[in-house]
Amino acid sequence: MPPPKPDASEYAPVRGNDIDFDNLPAAPVHERKGLYITRRDLLVFLLSLLISLPVGLLFALIFGDNASSSSCSPPQPNAHAASSGAECKPTTTVPQYFQTSPELWAGPTATGKAAFLVQTKAWDTAVSYVPNQPLQTGIPIEGMGEKEKSVFGMMGYLTPYRPSDGFGVEEWPLPEGAEVVQVQMVSRHGSRYPTEGANVGAFGKKVEKAKEQGKGKFKGKGALEFLNDWKYELGSEILVNKGRQELFDSGVLHSYMYGQLYNTNSKIIVRTTTQDRMLKSAENFMAGFFGLEWTQNATIEVIIEGEGFNNSLAGYMNCPNGQKVRGGTDAANIWIHNYLQNATARLSSLVEGYEWTIEDSYAAQTMCSYETVAYGFSRFCSLFTYQEWVGFGYSIDLNFYGNDGFGSPVGRAIGLGYQQEVVARLKNHTLGYSGSQINVTLDNNTETFPLNQNLYLDFSHDTNIISILTAFGLRQFAGTLDPTAYPGRHNFTVSDMTPFGARLDIEIIRAPRAIKADRSGYEGGSDKETKYVHFVLNQRTVPLGWSLPECDASRVDGWCELEAFLKAQEKEEKLAGYEKACFGDYEMRPYGMVVDGRPVN
Ligand SMILES: *[C@@H]1O[C@H](CO)[C@@H](O)[C@H](O)[C@H]1NC(C)=O
Ligand SMILES: *[C@@H]1O[C@H](CO)[C@@H](O)[C@H](O)[C@H]1NC(C)=O
Ligand SMILES: *[C@@H]1O[C@H](CO)[C@@H](O)[C@H](O)[C@H]1NC(C)=O
Ligand SMILES: *[C@@H]1O[C@H](CO)[C@@H](O)[C@H](O)[C@H]1NC(C)=O
Ligand SMILES: *[C@@H]1O[C@H](CO)[C@@H](O)[C@H](O)[C@H]1NC(C)=O
Ligand SMILES: *[C@@H]1O[C@H](CO)[C@@H](O)[C@H](O)[C@H]1NC(C)=O
Ligand SMILES: *[C@@H]1O[C@H](CO)[C@@H](O)[C@H](O)[C@H]1NC(C)=O
Repeated sequence: MPPPKPDASEYAPVRGNDIDFDNLPAAPVHERKGLYITRRDLLVFLLSLLISLPVGLLFALIFGDNASSSSCSPPQPNAHAASSGAECKPTTTVPQYFQTSPELWAGPTATGKAAFLVQTKAWDTAVSYVPNQPLQTGIPIEGMGEKEKSVFGMMGYLTPYRPSDGFGVEEWPLPEGAEVVQVQMVSRHGSRYPTEGANVGAFGKKVEKAKEQGKGKFKGKGALEFLNDWKYELGSEILVNKGRQELFDSGVLHSYMYGQLYNTNSKIIVRTTTQDRMLKSAENFMAGFFGLEWTQNATIEVIIEGEGFNNSLAGYMNCPNGQKVRGGTDAANIWIHNYLQNATARLSSLVEGYEWTIEDSYAAQTMCSYETVAYGFSRFCSLFTYQEWVGFGYSIDLNFYGNDGFGSPVGRAIGLGYQQEVVARLKNHTLGYSGSQINVTLDNNTETFPLNQNLYLDFSHDTNIISILTAFGLRQFAGTLDPTAYPGRHNFTVSDMTPFGARLDIEIIRAPRAIKADRSGYEGGSDKETKYVHFVLNQRTVPLGWSLPECDASRVDGWCELEAFLKAQEKEEKLAGYEKACFGDYEMRPYGMVVDGRPVN
């Protein structure tokens, strides 16, 4: 196991995205885990045999043959393990990559204190309107104008899902005669508890320690009075209730948008990783898309998310150099020490018996989002001014840009595997080579990497999706961000790109003829069928012509001709320099020197 990043082990003000390097099991643990699982499986087998015999007999007695054979049917190649109930488990021979219960490589799964909004709600009691959404985001924020957007829309990767504000072009409907023939989606999981080792947990411990050791000297006043009774009680890593809703809603939305791309006589393969929140995000999405009987319609493939394993949906797991990258963390720290000066002075004057630092201010802002998605409401939110929330969002943009996007030497490399998979599906071939972190065992086989679907649904993480956009060469997100001053509206905005429940939908559109770039109709003359690629990120178009010279930059709809797109992607694939970027021996440059998502020479 490589050493954790210097700031990841103790009080980490900035680390805290989806990846938790502290938490990676060391290599020998895998072996032990393997052994443990074998033994547990045996135990489960024996136990369930004992249980299933009488239960099965009872069922057979009550319902006759049909019930017993359907509740415990013989294994099918595409059987979904989760659906087949514990009593069926031992009799199926589900391969590991289709096994969803019991979970393997699930990651930390501690749950937190339950929400109790009926008691903790603090909305304006003079208003009789009762919001239908659980999260209490209508919080008074100092300095917020009437027309300004909610601070809950500027929390970077901790933003509860909302459609993006757009990426520069308007949305266009399909012209008459054109049809969407395929969609490939990659979705982030939904709202979750903090990763283990995140700054909020450290803040909680620090407060607790101050209360214990200070012997009554700890005292919050004014806006911080609530801290006197406050305790850190969040769980780790797994989806919170809101996270389930985000993915269910996304499934429902996708069923309305793309329902006819599903062939009702088939069962599709959808892919996620083994982590608990990843699996459950996929399951909630499927329930939203197909209904609770979704196991008749989809089989979930779980790709191992563990150090050293190849996984295009968690590309950092096989990219050791990625753990040395600090550019984004450094840039964010510069910015945090800038924009949180006022808040730190203000808040430290409101607490006695505690040394309130800039890092505490940052943790308190982070806590607002985590508590809101976990409990529905958080007292930390109104501690900050509007301008400070703008600053918070920007700190995350700096972090992700420099650690995972074009500002990172492994930005392209980490997203490369998924880029290759999208292209392979478009070109209708499996991947029997390895020049990235794809798992060839899975991708060289149509059983685990099918080519005959019109609907491909994959699930991944925030930073990985940023790297995927980088690997596609979407240079409109490449502009360097200044760590010393907020630039105003800027293209690389994480809350627009990878909020909780984010989704990139790559649509393939078939038109009977070429469509004019200004969308005034079809081109005259030729009758040549033309296909287009349309990138939709959080329900808004990412204009491909802005980034890829092969695509027509004048297209007002942001689409790109499929052939041109594929030609562009051949070039982009090479630019990643996967081997060197992930495994090569090169110097890590300070923030600002890397601008193309790959190592500088
Ligand atoms: C799911 O599969 C079942 C069984 O084949 C089918 O009856 C149902 O229509 C499918 N659901 C959808 C939403 O297509
Ligand atoms: C590839 O996936 C298979 C099936 O899950 C797994 O057994 C194997 O260890 C994986 N290989 C790597 C290098 O990740
Ligand atoms: C900090 O306070 C100064 C002086 O009141 C003000 O000009 C500045 O905008 C504040 N900065 C932030 C980030 O709120
Ligand atoms: C894709 O390739 C398979 C064979 O691997 C073939 O059966 C299928 O028709 C091809 N599909 C398209 C759209 O070309
Ligand atoms: C991919 O699969 C094909 C046929 O199934 C096989 O011949 C080839 O060796 C495989 N390649 C790799 C790298 O596993
Ligand atoms: C995993 O990725 C490495 C490159 O990092 C490659 O050499 C290896 O063949 C891959 N293994 C599988 C099973 O895909
Ligand atoms: C966003 O990206 C486009 C295309 O690269 C560029 O023209 C534009 O200036 C960028 N916008 C901002 C605010 O940086």
